[in-house]
Amino acid sequence: MTKNEGWLQPYEERINSALESSLPEDKTILTQAIRYSVLSGGKRLRPLLVYLASELGSAPPEAKDTVSCSVELIHCYSLIHDDLPAMDDDSLRRGKPTCHKKFGEAIAILAGDALQPLAYTLITGSNQIEEKIQVKLVSTLSKACGWDGMVEGQILDISHHDYLSLEDLDSMHMKKTGILIIACLEMGGMISNLPETEIKLLKQFGKKVGLAFQIRDDIIDLESPFEISGKSQGSDLVKEKITYPSLIGIKASKERAIELSEEAKEFAKKLSGDSNKLLKLCDFIVQRDY
Ligand code: IPE
Ligand code: IPE
Ligand code: MG
Ligand code: MG
Ligand code: MG
Repeated sequence: MTKNEGWLQPYEERINSALESSLPEDKTILTQAIRYSVLSGGKRLRPLLVYLASELGSAPPEAKDTVSCSVELIHCYSLIHDDLPAMDDDSLRRGKPTCHKKFGEAIAILAGDALQPLAYTLITGSNQIEEKIQVKLVSTLSKACGWDGMVEGQILDISHHDYLSLEDLDSMHMKKTGILIIACLEMGGMISNLPETEIKLLKQFGKKVGLAFQIRDDIIDLESPFEISGKSQGSDLVKEKITYPSLIGIKASKERAIELSEEAKEFAKKLSGDSNKLLKLCDFIVQRDY
């Protein structure tokens, strides 16, 4: 599957415009780097998850925009730092030179640093989200990307492993990618005041799609040329990363991703609202090649 599923487009347009208005103006090298990295395309999957989860209930449109932007800013920071020489040392991202290639390492580090508080101040500055929900959102998001969440996943990813079991790899993928995906669904549910039972289903759904998403990312690294993925093909091989394909082969990895997406659908079908788009998203996640 190549760019771009028609039904995703209105969401992408909405999030791109919300992001544009949530960023500082293009005044300094730092704000240029921030804008370059955030407004550079990307699938906007995490904001989409916020929208889709929140559409199961009712939330003010501005609240959806705010939370969507906040999760995308955290994701963009994580990509800038993920690409740094000390991490994955990648030169291309979203079809363009990575932030540090374009602006230098120091500015890239600082752009990532600046995106994190910006994400939280968007939430706490919203007059469309009750204060007690704001606190829950900030707590959920910060926990997801903290030392025992995304950052721990990233440490595991860059550590040298002589051996990793499939179970260890699942746990690493869960932390570096899955936890933020789950948080997006949970946060979307929170702003729509969904009952705990529905939020629990969304989190179970997120656990499956989060893992499927990262397995597909590992496959894309091997199979998808730069012209389609926007990233350097074979980057994981060069770094001798332990990935799904390196552990169980490409065919079994594809099968596992599809199996997880089918399992995710079972949770989505149990939701009391219309889960049609979540079901379509499951297919997109495991069929995409970008
Ligand atoms: C890439 O994420 C990094 C992972 C956690 C796998 P995406 O594939 O969502 O990247 P963009 O946002 O579309 O560029
Ligand atoms: C990135 O995983 C995970 C985070 C940024 C937290 P990858 O290193 O596999 O992502 P890509 O392939 O560079 O996009
Ligand atoms: Mg990485
Ligand atoms: Mg990387
Ligand atoms: Mg990857």
